[in-house]
Amino acid sequence: MKVIKTENYEEMSLQAAAIIAQLVKDKPDCVLGLATGSTPIGAYKELIRKHREEGLDFSKVQSVNLDEYAGLSPENEQSYRYFMRSNLFDAINIVPENTHVPCGLAEDLDAECLRYEELIAALGGTDIQVLGIGRNGHIGFNEPAEEFIVSTHVTGLDESTIDANKRFFASEDEVPRRALTMGIGAIMSAKTVLLLASGSDKAQAIKDTVTGEVTPRVQASILRFHPNVIVIADKAALSLI
Ligand code: PGA
Repeated sequence: MKVIKTENYEEMSLQAAAIIAQLVKDKPDCVLGLATGSTPIGAYKELIRKHREEGLDFSKVQSVNLDEYAGLSPENEQSYRYFMRSNLFDAINIVPENTHVPCGLAEDLDAECLRYEELIAALGGTDIQVLGIGRNGHIGFNEPAEEFIVSTHVTGLDESTIDANKRFFASEDEVPRRALTMGIGAIMSAKTVLLLASGSDKAQAIKDTVTGEVTPRVQASILRFHPNVIVIADKAALSLI
């Protein structure tokens, strides 16, 4: 695990964007594993700037997102498909058909999970998987549990996740209680994992991930078994290490 300490969120974002941009230049048809949440927004902004000002070309890139809320349509402003469109896809030249997010409205959610798992396999896995981390150490919506779940699956949201995500909704009651998430298998099969963290509320999760025991109670800790993980975290997120 390579840990890069940055001064602040801005620097974390620029360093993350630089790594992603270099991959896109080196391998124009790469597969980007993408994440939602507040953490990657700054990196996406910088990728948009690089596209507009430096001609960074996403025309052959494929993307797969980590997760989606169950029951939200792609037009719902809280859905992760909508998030990706408004924070990245609509502002770069990625082909919409090449962007993949689990469908939260699928009638058969288990069948949708299977379809998504097969899609990731058909793409050959991701070249880089961008991850945020929950205050409870979750990655994607792989919440603290007694086991690691390998495949894409439907999951219930942890109370702390509902609490953290309610800021995006009119009330806590509106936060969906279930989501579809990539499992630990697809995340671990990424060629490179880029874990981003900013702020002191992530410090315990980052400490547990980087220095604690590998346990499904802290799902991100499994990354210690991955051969190529880059953690970019600001000094507040690294304050307990
Ligand atoms: P955040 O979420 O980037 O909004 O903090 C991260 C996560 O829950 O994985």
